[in-house]
Amino acid sequence: MTTASAPGKIILVGEHAVVYGRPAIAVPISKVKATATVEETRRGTGCVIIAKDLNRTIRVAEAALNDPLAAIVRSTLVHFRAQDLDATITVSSTIPIASGMGSGAAVSAAIARALAAHLGHTMNNDILAALVFEVEKLYHGAPSGVDNTVIAHARPVFFVKNRLVEAFAVKSPLRLLIADTGIPSLTKVVVEDVHKAWEANQDKYNVWFRQIGQIALMARAAIIGGEHFALGALMDGNQWLLEQIGVSSPEIDRLVQAARQAGAMGAKLSGAGRGGNVIALTTEPTQDTVLDALRKAGAQAVIAATIM
Ligand code: PMV
Repeated sequence: MTTASAPGKIILVGEHAVVYGRPAIAVPISKVKATATVEETRRGTGCVIIAKDLNRTIRVAEAALNDPLAAIVRSTLVHFRAQDLDATITVSSTIPIASGMGSGAAVSAAIARALAAHLGHTMNNDILAALVFEVEKLYHGAPSGVDNTVIAHARPVFFVKNRLVEAFAVKSPLRLLIADTGIPSLTKVVVEDVHKAWEANQDKYNVWFRQIGQIALMARAAIIGGEHFALGALMDGNQWLLEQIGVSSPEIDRLVQAARQAGAMGAKLSGAGRGGNVIALTTEPTQDTVLDALRKAGAQAVIAATIM
């Protein structure tokens, strides 16, 4: 029996603009994770995936070509030139679904890693990111690649579409609160809406995307330098630009305001927006006050994560 897992993630700065070639920073959230276990079964039984949280049992041989869980199994087997597989793959996840924490990418990464181990191989993170990216397209249409990259590498990344990933050092730990608006949001739909708005008003949107890209560059410098107040201000600036782009919502705005008023250094939506999660950057002394304020402002769940 082999088991592997992959973390959730949040986007610290740069979502949406990253789809248009601007940089973004994403960090893994290891407090939540997807886990996959592969167990060999009798010869001729084929490969069955049991996804407990989704209430699904999938026979890979019979699954549709665009079934994401079957797809990662097939592509991993092809990568390792393995033919038949008689096994049960059990998948579970503590990552909230449809809230911008990368649950789909983490499930794919955990399956690919567990399968690789089962077949007696180790998998390079860049190859893992590439295999997961192909499956991400089934969920999201035209993703930038930031989710699969941060989840496969499991460390903070400075990401630019179609470029090799850049890692960087976090000088002093970042204390983040991740607050769920409780409103599910489909990345594909929001990304498509932004695309339509961009088509109708390219000049304006290109300026906003460029400004977000500059924020990502400055945020990287602030993280490397341990300047958390500067990072907080950059997150606030990023939120303002995301509001201009049209991906915030009253629920997000309420959580962002509550976090700032309670002493967060900065707060913004994370991921596609319209729902999903808000992230707030806090200090150790302010963390509990901000957490309380987020709950009172309607957060359905709050995860505290320290990024090192
Ligand atoms: O998967 P989410 O909801 O964290 O959002 C992805 C971030 C976007 O920039 C909106 C889309 C993308 O493909 O990068």
